[in-house]
Parts: sequence; structure tokens; C-alpha cells
Amino acid sequence: MRILSIVGARPQFIKAAPVSWALAEMGHSETILHTGQHYDDRMSRVFFQELELPIPAFNLKVGSGSHGWQTAAMLSGIEEVLSKEKPDWVLVYGDTNSTLAGALAASKLRLPLAHVEAGLRSFNREMPEEHNRVLTDHCSDLLFCPTHTAVRNLAQEGITRGVERVGDTMYDAVLRYIPLARERSGIMEKLNLEPQKYLLATIHRPYNTDSPEILKQLLMTLSRLDETVVFPVHPRTRRMLIELARTHLSLLGAPNLCLIDPLGYLDMLALESNARVILTDSGGIQKEAYMVGVPCVTLRPETEWVETVEAGWNTIAGTDPKRILAAARNNPRHLPRRQIFGSGDAAYRIVAHLTARAGPTCPVISNRVPELEFA
Ligand code: UD1
Ligand code: UDP
Repeated sequence: MRILSIVGARPQFIKAAPVSWALAEMGHSETILHTGQHYDDRMSRVFFQELELPIPAFNLKVGSGSHGWQTAAMLSGIEEVLSKEKPDWVLVYGDTNSTLAGALAASKLRLPLAHVEAGLRSFNREMPEEHNRVLTDHCSDLLFCPTHTAVRNLAQEGITRGVERVGDTMYDAVLRYIPLARERSGIMEKLNLEPQKYLLATIHRPYNTDSPEILKQLLMTLSRLDETVVFPVHPRTRRMLIELARTHLSLLGAPNLCLIDPLGYLDMLALESNARVILTDSGGIQKEAYMVGVPCVTLRPETEWVETVEAGWNTIAGTDPKRILAAARNNPRHLPRRQIFGSGDAAYRIVAHLTARAGPTCPVISNRVPELEFA
């Protein structure tokens, strides 16, 4: 079987790695296409090295730009590669512009398309990711869902065929890399941190970063916490912080804030698993917090990972200082943690399903329109 995997942004390298390992182990051929959506070494190269991902055979080097321009540039580059390669399956991951461009290119060429992390919904159409997910799911032949909720979301939109609940490949990656992070990461010593005596924060969503007022409020809230807050800064956020520093330099210098460059995966896992609490607007980090058993405060108005909230390990706090501070001081560690994200074998299940399906299937729209039915 010949697979072409399309990746481009940081979380996709992590989601794709377990599938790459499983494909290689089972003797399948995989070609990786990197769109170039993320390009800094710390946002891209470090993950290929640490996760031992094959070097991309194609790198479109599309880079940053407006949504329309970026997606269009990717679409045109991906189409060219797919037309030549004609793989048995095209794999896309998650919900970024790289995901949507890959899905559109494959479906327009009628190449079999599989979506890993299908069925997630925030029901917030203000998020570019929500459009990317919905559109990608509706043109995929195989939809690999991480959770029961994801399967239900698809059914509500009439997609029932080709849907497989396999678990989450990010969980596969965490299980494999947590022991390595313990062994190899020196980040705790480097930052002079003690387990459970600091908090970890990440912020990169446009609605949190692109408004100086909201970003300022979030920083002020973090600076009111008693413990050190380690904050690896995403390049989008860095750009906005530089702007903010012109008028509010003292805020960035708050004594408990430790602003650092984006980290590699091993260092990030080490910091996540030793933190007392994680505060984040990231999708992947909310999941990882649950996987490593650390309470999470979500700096968004809603989440796709509703199971983590239902289990009591994740609190939706939005940008409200009172809610954030109260949630960060809460400690739900005594609560049970059931296996929401599968058993750590999602990638093997994905490869088994890909192998079993000879060709494409069309998603069946079950919301019938009665007046169009013939007797
Ligand atoms: C993208 C995804 C988002 C995902 C995130 C993961 C979309 C619409 N958004 O958001 O779903 O959660 O990646 O991190 O696909 N930049 C650099 N260096 C880089 C990459 C980006 O400096 O290597 C800067 C550029 O100024 C760029 C900005 O970050 O304009 C935003 O990058 P972009 O890929 O457009 O969106 P993200 O916010 O990273
Ligand atoms: N991550 C990392 N270094 C960092 C920040 C995040 O390795 O400095 C990892 C994190 O552990 C998770 C993934 O990147 O596996 C999440 O990516 P991100 O938050 O950028 O995107 P999202 O999940 O919100 O789409």
C-alpha cells in the first residue's frame, strides 16, 4: 500500500508520527508532503528529529499568509504532487489549513482520502479550524475518530459510512515518549523547576492573541498567580507580545512569568507531566494534560474535548480572570481518569483499516429529504 501523508503544522507532526511508525513496521510505503505552514526549526525540524519522522519527500515551503492565500497555495502545490504520485490513500491530520488543502486536493482528484482526528467540533464557526474540520470530514472516505463524541458529531451531520473510532494517535505518541522525556529532557534543571511547584501556560489562538486587550488581560491574570508560570511562546503570540511590549513592557517582566521559545516535544512532555496545572488554549495540550494526569484550565469559551471537562480534569475558563484564577487554584487530581483516548494503539488500527479498504467509499448523507424521494 502506498500512502501519502500531508502535514504542515506543529501538532500534525506529532499526530502523524505514530502512523508513520506503524506503516513502516507493517511494510507499507509512506511519502510525506510538508506544506511548509510551520517552518521555524523550533516549530518543525525539531519534531522530525525527535519523533524520527521520515524526511518529507516534498516541502512546498508555502509559509505564512492570509487564510485564502495560504490554503490556495497549498492546494495548487499538493495537487501537482498528488497527480504524479497517485497514492492508494491520502492521509490528512487535524484541522489546520494544511488539512483542508490536502483534503480538497485529494477529493478533486478522486483519490481515496482518510482524515485522522475526524468528527471534532467546537460548534464555534468563528474558529478557522471549525471550517477546516467540517469541510474535511465531508469529503473524506475514511474518518478516524478519536472519541465517542466525535463519532456522534459525524452522525448528527449524516456521516456514518467510513467512520471508525480508533482512539487518538497523540496518546500513542505520549505513551512512547513519556519515558524518553524522563530520560533525556533537561528542561526542569535548565529552568530550575521542581515538580508540582510551577504552572505551564500556552496561548496561540487568534482570538486570544490578536486583540492586545485580551492578551494583556491574560498576561495580567497569569502574573497574579503565586507560582512560576512557564510560558513557551508560539511565534504568532511572540509577534503580538513584541507589539504589546511597546506600551506594557513591565507586564512581560512580571517576576513569576518565565517566557521561553517554543520547545521540542520531549521538553514539552517533561514540563507538562511535572506541572501542577496547565493553562492553555491549545487543543493538543488539553488532551495531553489529561493523558499525563495534570489538571487543565482551558483559556477558550468552549472545547472539542468535552470528555476531559465531563471527567472534571479540564475547566473551561475563557479569558475571565476570576474563573481562570479559581480554576488554577483548584486541584481535581483525586478524580478518576478513564481511557478517553483509546488504548495507545490508534495508529495500528488506522493502518489496519486502510489496508482492509480496497478503494474509496462515499460518506452517506442520512438526513434524507422526503419530498425528493420517489415512491
Ligand atoms: C496554526 C493552525 C492552528 C494550530 C496551530 C498549531 C490554521 C488555520 N491554524 O495556527 O489550528 O492550532 O497552527 O500551532 O491552520 N509563524 C512563524 N514561524 C512559523 C510559523 C508561523 O513565525 O514557523 C508566525 C507567522 O507570523 C504566522 C503566524 O505565526 O503568520 C501564524 O501562523 P499560522 O500557521 O498561520 O497559524 P497558527 O497560529 O500557527
Ligand atoms: N508542543 C511542543 N512544544 C511547544 C508547544 C507545544 O512540543 O512549545 C506540542 C504539544 O505537546 C502538543 C502540540 O505541540 O503535542 C500542540 O500543538 P499546538 O498547541 O501548537 O496546536 P493545537 O494542538 O492547538 O492545534
